[in-house]
Amino acid sequence: MLRKPVYVLLPAKAARSPKFPSTHGAFPGVQHRLKGTFMKTSQPAPAAHAPHLPLTSYYESEQDRQTYLRGIFDSTAGDYDRVEAMLAWGTGSRYRRLALVRAGLKAGMRVLDVGVGTGLVAAQACVVTGDASLVTGIDPSPGMLAASKLPHGITLVEGRAESLPFPDNHFDFLSMGYALRHISDLGVAFAEFHRVLKPGGRLCILEITQAKSPVGKWVLKTYMRGVIPFLSRLVTRRRDTTTIWRYYWDSIEACVPPEQVIATLRAEGLSEVRQHLEVGVFSEYQAIKPLQPAGNAARAAGVIPAV
Ligand SMILES: C[S@@+](CC[C@H](N)C(=O)[O-])C[C@H]1O[C@@H](n2cnc3c(N)ncnc32)[C@H](O)[C@@H]1O
Repeated sequence: MLRKPVYVLLPAKAARSPKFPSTHGAFPGVQHRLKGTFMKTSQPAPAAHAPHLPLTSYYESEQDRQTYLRGIFDSTAGDYDRVEAMLAWGTGSRYRRLALVRAGLKAGMRVLDVGVGTGLVAAQACVVTGDASLVTGIDPSPGMLAASKLPHGITLVEGRAESLPFPDNHFDFLSMGYALRHISDLGVAFAEFHRVLKPGGRLCILEITQAKSPVGKWVLKTYMRGVIPFLSRLVTRRRDTTTIWRYYWDSIEACVPPEQVIATLRAEGLSEVRQHLEVGVFSEYQAIKPLQPAGNAARAAGVIPAV
């Protein structure tokens, strides 16, 4: 029998605190509002591991996902910026810059851009920080890195979100644009984000999420799964380019909902986690690494004495 959810107004601190069990797949029972703290009491959102189940029409199993993605990003890298400009009607760079500023990026900050690809987010990070030598980009696809046109001075590294080759407490700001759906384990990646950020450092994850209304869902699906792959066929002869833009939508549709992304960020120790939404589908997950380590970690570090 379906029960109506019960909503209670929790103090902001209590609403932020739980470290949810790591189960993937169950639809969450938490409703977040941008600054509000209304939560259903019945079923908290579980933290997530894989962002979605294997998409078996593209690759066979979870183990094959990373190899498939690397291959398809490598082979389509030369078309990425053109198709992205078409998809976003040329607004992508401005939007990315505004999103970084909304999440707290300022001049002089040291930035890591994860899933840097051809550098569309990193280029805007260079503009805002005012110094390309403060910006580092990381991506597992050598093809995407080679196709990037970034200002002189930026550092580009081949690697994955789940294993960042950087020291602890190193960056003031970490961004990731449209790569969340490609990560193999969100909890592992977010723990890495927490590790490499300085205390007080800020996080900004950009992702397209499903529209709430059935009409909005239909419009987005038709545009992303029908119109964009069709148009991409007109601007390129590479078959993989059409496939990757179809994959783009299929992975959005299969992706865990924002509530689980938020729960996973909190479970990995990030605070002030919120989802800012633009035009109903452009999600910006913002968070801060707390100045003090929380709970057990603080006790282990001797910040809170054991009783
Ligand atoms: C859709 S592109 C986004 C590029 C760029 N950030 C932007 O805003 O346009 C996604 C990128 O994520 C990268 N990626 C895939 N798996 C990844 C992982 N496990 N860790 C980091 N990046 C990953 C891909 O190689 C690809 O370059």
